[in-house]
Amino acid sequence: MTATTMDTLLNVKELKLYYDTPRGPVRAVDGVSFALKEGEALGLVGESGSGKTSLGLALMRLLPKNVHTYTGRVVLEGEDLMALSDEEFRRRVRWRKISMAFQGAMNVLNPVLKVWLQIAEPLLADGVPKAQARARVEELLELVGLARDVADRYPHELSGGMKQRVVIAAALVMNPKLVILDEPTSALDVSIQAQIMNLLKRLKRELGLSYLFVTHDIALASDLCDSMAIVYAGQIVEIGTAEDVLLRPEHPYTQGLLASLPRLHSTRLPSFIPGAPPDLVRPPAGCRFRPRCPKAFKRCTEPPPPLPGHGPDHLVRCWLVERR
Ligand SMILES: Nc1ncnc2c1ncn2[C@@H]1O[C@H](COP(=O)(O)OP(=O)(O)OP(=O)(O)O)[C@@H](O)[C@H]1O
Ligand code: SF4
Ligand SMILES: [Mg+2]
Repeated sequence: MTATTMDTLLNVKELKLYYDTPRGPVRAVDGVSFALKEGEALGLVGESGSGKTSLGLALMRLLPKNVHTYTGRVVLEGEDLMALSDEEFRRRVRWRKISMAFQGAMNVLNPVLKVWLQIAEPLLADGVPKAQARARVEELLELVGLARDVADRYPHELSGGMKQRVVIAAALVMNPKLVILDEPTSALDVSIQAQIMNLLKRLKRELGLSYLFVTHDIALASDLCDSMAIVYAGQIVEIGTAEDVLLRPEHPYTQGLLASLPRLHSTRLPSFIPGAPPDLVRPPAGCRFRPRCPKAFKRCTEPPPPLPGHGPDHLVRCWLVERR
């Protein structure tokens, strides 16, 4: 099977997004490739600063002014999105085909606008009559488990969990195929987090949505995702079915992430990965994980080859695996 088979929704190849800074370019997304099947959820798991939000923004083409490099291939339903003009992308793709529920539901809503106007914004910008837009918003509020009268409330009148539901409703307003969920539960307490995860599972099932689920929490990703990509320093270092990555992790970084989780029948205490993630202006030469890797050896001073966007189900960017 190739990545262009019918059920592939999104195909990303060698995507790069660097930011200009006085110290030099920040390589936030540095040659990322993956494919996503229709109706499936891919978890993007990595530490803070590994470039997860930047990857979402690159797919939405929501770029800050200080972009240094923005290259690669992004193919959605067979169409090369990078070939589209900004105007065409805005008119046909952003919110309509790919949408994003932004990180930090507490802060992404405008405090002076009623909830319904914020959800309806792309509809109203399209010239949809107010009454029709309002009706669509009320339908969405119900879909995400909120009362219709939340439409007339202001963000400060809502709890954290309710705000997160509003942010999810806003991502669904134009009926997208693919939703990027950026840490949708990280600011919520555990019981509310579980409710939001159940909502996301229900929406995936009922609407046939595909997700890119961005999180630093590998356990949370495994609850929702069909497959998982482990991101380290702007690059994917391991990708596979959720089962393979969780039960048979091959990259030392993934193994470290999993060893930091508690286990009921383990005789060892959870451990932590020593050291800090690298500076993305001057990442380590060779394998970027080398300074923290307990298994590093001579060859790791050369960078292991980037992962192709498709191929075998389980791919690992590490010389240990490459050597076999
Ligand atoms: N506009 C910008 N200009 C310069 N550097 C930026 C910009 N936006 C993000 N960065 C840097 O790019 C890197 C990746 O940031 P990004 O927000 O994508 O990471 P993340 O994985 O989403 O982190 P978190 O888990 O904390 O949300 C970080 O080093 C960050 O400081
Ligand atoms: S390539 Fe080397 S340094 Fe990098 S993860 Fe594999 S063993 Fe560790
Ligand atoms: Mg982020």
